[in-house]
Amino acid sequence: MTLEGYKEAFLEYLNEKVVLKQPKNLYEPIIYILGIGGKRLRPVLTLMICDLFGGDSKKSFDAALAVEVFHNFTLVHDDIMDSAPIRRGKETVHKKWDENTGILSGDAMMIIAYQCFESYDVHLYKKLLKVFNKTALEVCEGQQLDVDFESRNDVSIDEYLTMITNKTSVLIAAAMQMGAIISNVDDEQAEAIYNFGLNLGIAFQLQDDYLDTFGNAETFGKQIGGDILENKKTYLYLKALQVSSESDAKNLVELYNSNITNAEKVKHVTQIFENNNIGGLTKQAIQNYTDKAFKDLEKLKISDKNKNILKEFGLGLMKRSI
Ligand code: IPE
Ligand code: IPE
Ligand code: MG
Ligand code: MG
Ligand code: MG
Repeated sequence: MTLEGYKEAFLEYLNEKVVLKQPKNLYEPIIYILGIGGKRLRPVLTLMICDLFGGDSKKSFDAALAVEVFHNFTLVHDDIMDSAPIRRGKETVHKKWDENTGILSGDAMMIIAYQCFESYDVHLYKKLLKVFNKTALEVCEGQQLDVDFESRNDVSIDEYLTMITNKTSVLIAAAMQMGAIISNVDDEQAEAIYNFGLNLGIAFQLQDDYLDTFGNAETFGKQIGGDILENKKTYLYLKALQVSSESDAKNLVELYNSNITNAEKVKHVTQIFENNNIGGLTKQAIQNYTDKAFKDLEKLKISDKNKNILKEFGLGLMKRSI
């Protein structure tokens, strides 16, 4: 099946399973955030990996749905935490409604995500929940580090990598691992696909950081410069501190600790990034982590044809502008 085919099949399932209920102020934001698009990367991976390992991808729809609903829950709360006005080219939930609505609808989404697993038999249910619980807690840990780093001036690139592994990579890796588990692979293979997902997930978040500054608002669907406005210690920022002149580095730290007007701050920080080829260096890091992920593919006991499908997927992510 093509990526588009998986996506369409998944969306059909999503629309059938998640429907508007009362009270409408709880469920409308859920339908809204799940309905305004998104790449559907994680559920497609769950379905695809299940197939590539020889399983029946129909059995993985509920796990795929759990992952996508959970992902969207994290976005609703993340947008509150990041004061983000725009998501997928539309108003964020807390802007369209209010923060309390975002909090409670988000909570309900997390519970809906857990409910999705109820269809699995006891053995599989326990295996999947174990992966999901570990992942969900790690995402919280990553999100806390992300916020903690906003007010710290001594964050290292290693600490940054730990943070993004938790907030982003583990869910991508778990989405794949659950597809593998449903297809009944052994633990070693499930771990190999998980590691592939971790490295691909790091490349994915690096690309997200890149697009947050250098992307196009129309296609990316988020406010450009949002990370700069929130003093996020992104790869771009940390790399700039590492490679730029003493005066550029000093200016950067001052800009991040200043209260100059928003558009001006984004302009100046972006200028420093541009002066120091930070976009190019970030692209290089994205390439390195993608290559690392491709190395993990060697351990998989699937056909070369199927490995190539995963490779193409990784290469596609690297080129994304959305
Ligand atoms: C956004 O994830 C949050 C990150 C982990 C960077 P996606 O880029 O997958 O968002 P959608 O679901 O496609 O909108
Ligand atoms: C998102 O990180 C991670 C989670 C939502 C768990 P970001 O804050 O960079 O994601 P975007 O850029 O808002 O999508
Ligand atoms: Mg955010
Ligand atoms: Mg965030
Ligand atoms: Mg981001």
